[in-house]
Amino acid sequence: MTITIIGAGNIGGRLAEKWKAAGHSILIGARNPSDEETLKWAAGSDARVLSIADAVQQGDAVLIATPGKVVAEMATRLGEALRGKLVMDATNMAGPPGTSLGFDALRNAGADAVKVFNCTGWENLADPRYGNELADMFMAGGSQEAKANVRELVKAIGFSDAIDMGGDDKVHLLEAFALVWIDLAIMQKMGRGIAFKLMRR
Ligand SMILES: NC(=O)c1ccc[n+]([C@@H]2O[C@H](COP(=O)([O-])OP(=O)(O)OC[C@H]3O[C@@H](n4cnc5c(N)ncnc54)[C@H](OP(=O)(O)O)[C@@H]3O)[C@@H](O)[C@H]2O)c1
Repeated sequence: MTITIIGAGNIGGRLAEKWKAAGHSILIGARNPSDEETLKWAAGSDARVLSIADAVQQGDAVLIATPGKVVAEMATRLGEALRGKLVMDATNMAGPPGTSLGFDALRNAGADAVKVFNCTGWENLADPRYGNELADMFMAGGSQEAKANVRELVKAIGFSDAIDMGGDDKVHLLEAFALVWIDLAIMQKMGRGIAFKLMRR
């Protein structure tokens, strides 16, 4: 699969490296595709750097890992290019708690958007192993077909599973769940080496 990454920072950069290692092709959609630092990093990760619009058009799937507050405007700008496209929205804090403004804008633009990768620290994307256990990922929104593809991409980077929390109406819960991880890791000082796992019987 060709995966477009918009925002190759902590989250996008780690996912680019992991998906590349899993055999996928990586396109970076950058604000400034000729930025030397971005080109140097992309060369090391065997990724191509394009404008955001070109990268979205050429990707089979798109990951958005920018600051949350820029997603709504980006969705409006990309418009038709997003229609029917599998988009993984890893962003947080696009608006006040209880809202999912960035995600809603992606859906309004016609993207088959799934909220995922937002409720755990980037270190867990680099390595989701805890002893003999593998952390779980959580996702919500989008079509069943999109979520089946996302589950494969989540497992490809070593997570146990991507637990389906439901449809678009549950995305705000997943954004709040991110605040639980942030609270435990940072405010409660547990550190960033923590991850969630669902237990069943
Ligand atoms: N850090 C975590 O552990 C973590 C965990 C879960 C979710 N998240 C969420 O994931 C998102 C990314 O976090 P991060 O820690 O990876 O951030 P980061 O390291 O600061 O990277 C952000 C990336 O977004 C790009 N960017 C910024 N503004 C942009 C714009 N207007 N248009 C296009 N690209 C833009 C930046 O590229 P340039 O500035 O080079 O153009 C950079 O590559 C955030 O929404 C965050 O809340 C983070």
